[in-house]
Order: sequence, then structure tokens, then C-alpha cells
Amino acid sequence: MKTISADSPIGIYDSGVGGLTVWRAVRELLPAENLIYFADQAKVPYGRRPLDEVRELAVAACGFLMGQGCKLVVIACNTASAAALKYVRELWPDFPFVGMEPAVKPAAEQTLSGKVGVLATSSTFHGPLYASVVERFAHDVQLYQATCPGLVQQIENGSLDAPETRQILEAAVLPMLEEGVDTLVMGCTHFPFVIPLIRQIAGDAVRVIDPAPAVARQVRRVLESRDLLFEGEGFGKSLFYTSGEPKKLEALLPKLIGGEDEVFRNNDAGVALAM
Ligand code: DGL
Repeated sequence: MKTISADSPIGIYDSGVGGLTVWRAVRELLPAENLIYFADQAKVPYGRRPLDEVRELAVAACGFLMGQGCKLVVIACNTASAAALKYVRELWPDFPFVGMEPAVKPAAEQTLSGKVGVLATSSTFHGPLYASVVERFAHDVQLYQATCPGLVQQIENGSLDAPETRQILEAAVLPMLEEGVDTLVMGCTHFPFVIPLIRQIAGDAVRVIDPAPAVARQVRRVLESRDLLFEGEGFGKSLFYTSGEPKKLEALLPKLIGGEDEVFRNNDAGVALAM
């Protein structure tokens, strides 16, 4: 394991490109930090896999990023956080992990109609983190849930405004609007990439909650508390790894985050290509 210091990179991990919505927020808040992103695209989508299988994938991915010398790992995937956040914290008690949980709390605070829609994968809805936020924060609101089957794949293909993508979103969101939902929670890190389309469908009056900026602030707090925040000036580097097809990810990055960084395949890692 490499020695960790303030100039070590931050690791960010997702099943695919969804965690780039978190990468974007971390990059904006902490521009000087070096970032290593890992997309487990050989295994995407995670959303319908059993939680114990996702947990194994997440342990391997976190191990890979720790092996790259990361000083903190963001599990930028609600599904992997539901399956593995508690587990990796027990496995590596001294290492800082930041995870995702559906943003039911801010939604419950902001809704005026008392009706909140949550879009997330089916594994996230079945996991312990969702049950816990519902129990803690959803007393006075009514929640409507939708899994948006096929949406993660559409986003993985870069089809952010294709007719099929619109159909999936309409099927999820229109019934919620009819019920009076005025706040939508992005409970899957892929989904903020289709917020423009959601706005077309739902109109500007509906609040759409993307938790990425709050997660980036949490990353900063955790690094500060451990004296690991990089104080340098300028712009840090970003590396992108995938267990899938590097060329495919490389082609998609400009569309999603406007970058031109080189994509590496992590075939030296525990997350093997053949998996
Ligand atoms: N981006 C992931 C999440 O936040 C999961 C998508 C998937 O692989 O199904 O849940």
C-alpha cells in the first residue's frame, strides 16, 4: 500500500459513468485535487444484481482504488453504497469512505405538496440505507418510487435525450406528477445526466435533487478532519479506469464531462476484465 498524504488522489467509483456526476461536483469544489475514477463497466448495471454480489464487486473496486494510493474513496453509486458501505468500513476501519444515500432528507424539507418521487435502482430500494432514510426522514411525506428499467443502460450508451430515454422517464415521472409529486430525488448517480430531459417532462416547477454537491462537501469535510485536504493551487489530474471497454468510455467522456483524459483499463487490479 502506498503512503497516503494530502497530495494523494481521491478515488471515485461507480458501476459505470453515473459516478461522473459526483466526479464533476468534486472537481468543481476541489479543483486542485488529483482524482482517480473507476467505472466497473464490465458489470454494469449493478441495479438488479443481488446485494451480496454487488458487495463483492464493491470490495474489489475499493481495493483497486486503495491500491492506487487513494487517500479517500467515494462510493459514487447508491447501489454499491447500499450493498457495501457498512461492510468496507468494517473491513478497513482506518480508511475514509464516503458513500451515497437517497436524498430523502432534503426532499422532505423542501416539498410543499408533501409528495416526493424517488428514482433509484431496485437494489437501492431493497437495501438498508434506503430503509434507514425513509424511517428517519419520511414521516410527514408520501414517497413514490420508480426504478426506471433500462435508464442506466441508455445513459451508459450516451443516449441522454433519445426517444427511448424519454419514454422510460415519462413512464416513471408522469404518474408521480399526477399524484401531486413536486420534488424528485435522483437516487441513482447516473440519473442527473438526464435532468434536462426530466425538466422537459416535469416542467421547471418540480424540484430535482441531485445529491452530488452535498457529497463533494462531505468529501472536503472528511479530508479536512484528517488533515488530508490538498492545499496546492491550480488544477489536479484526473485518471479514468474501466473494467469494460476503454475506447467506449473515452468516447463518452467529452459528452458527459467535457474532458479528454486518457482511459486506462485496470487489468492489473482485483476487478478483473474477465469477471
Ligand atoms: N449509478 C448507480 C447507482 O447510483 C447504479 C447503476 C447501476 O449500475 O444499476 O445506483
